[in-house]
Amino acid sequence: MNRQTVTVFSPATVANIACGFDILGFAVGEPGDIVKATLSDEPGVRVVKITGDGGVLPTGSEKNAATAGVIKLLNDTNSKVGIEIELHKKMPLGSGLGSSAASAAGGVYAANVLLGSPLSRSELISYAMEGERVACGTAHADNVAPALLGGFVAVRSYNPLDVVRIPTELTFSCLLIKPHVEVMTKEARQVLGTEISLEQHVIQSGNLSGLLVGLMTNDSELVSRSIVDVIAEPKRSKWIPHYDEMKNYLMNQGAIGCCISGSGPSVFSLFTDREKAERAQEGLKDFEADFYLTDVNTNGVSEIEGSIDEIL
Ligand code: HSE
Repeated sequence: MNRQTVTVFSPATVANIACGFDILGFAVGEPGDIVKATLSDEPGVRVVKITGDGGVLPTGSEKNAATAGVIKLLNDTNSKVGIEIELHKKMPLGSGLGSSAASAAGGVYAANVLLGSPLSRSELISYAMEGERVACGTAHADNVAPALLGGFVAVRSYNPLDVVRIPTELTFSCLLIKPHVEVMTKEARQVLGTEISLEQHVIQSGNLSGLLVGLMTNDSELVSRSIVDVIAEPKRSKWIPHYDEMKNYLMNQGAIGCCISGSGPSVFSLFTDREKAERAQEGLKDFEADFYLTDVNTNGVSEIEGSIDEIL
C-alpha cells in the first residue's frame, strides 16, 4: 500500500567544482531543505506551506521549484492523485549552494515515494530540472543530479540527458563560506558570455580530466592540482568580497582546493583533514559570512522519520 505522507532532507550542492562548468557537482551533508509530501484525494499539486524563505518564493505550484517537477511527474505517470507539498527552507536562497535544486530534488523524490517509487533516482533528474527551469530560467542538472544521487556527479550530456556518478573512496571535509552579499545567477551567467578560447578549452579540459582521474584513483594530490577554473572564476570572483585573499588563506591552511560554489557568492574549500578545516574556519570568524563545515553527502535526498514538528 502506498504511503500517505513522506518527509525528506534534500541537500545543498556545490556545482561546477571549478573545472566542470555546468557539468560537475557534489552534494554536502548540510545545509539543505526539508520537504514533506502528502497524498490528497483532490487531484493536482499544491504548495500548502513554505517556511524559511522570508516570503519571497512563489506559492503557485507551477512556479515553485519544489512542485514544478511534481506536476510533470504526475502527468507522465498518469497519476490521478493529488499531492500537497510543505517546503521548509533550511538554507540560504540565491547563495550558489543549489537552493532551488534542493527544493526541486526533494519535491520529486518525496512525490515519487508516494506514488510507490515508479522511477529511479536517475530517472527523477529530468523532473527536478523542471524545478530549476522555473526558479532560474534554465534547467541545469549540475545541482539537482548530485542532490538526488549523492556524491560527485558528472553530466556527460544534456541532450539526451546522461548523468554519471563519479566513483571515489576519497572522503573530504568541506568548508562552505557564504558571504553576506547577493549574486544573481542570471547576471553571473551573462557575465561569462558565450565563447571561450582554444587555450581556455585546453586548460579547462586538462583539469577536468585530472579531477575525474584523481577522484576515481583516490589521488587527492591530483584532485588538488585540478581544482582550477579559467572560465567562470576570473569573471565572477569580483562579486565576492576579499575572494583572492580568502582563497590564499584557505589554501595556506591546508585546503586541497577552493573555488566559487555554483554561480556564487558562496565559496567551497575541500580538506582531507577535518582539524585543518576547523582551524581555517576559526581564522575567518571576523569575515561577514555564514559558515558550514560539512562533508560530502554520498546518499543524496534521504527520508526522515518522525513528525514534521519533531524534525524542524
Ligand atoms: N553551473 C551553474 C553556473 C550553477 O555556474 O551558472 C548555477 O546554478
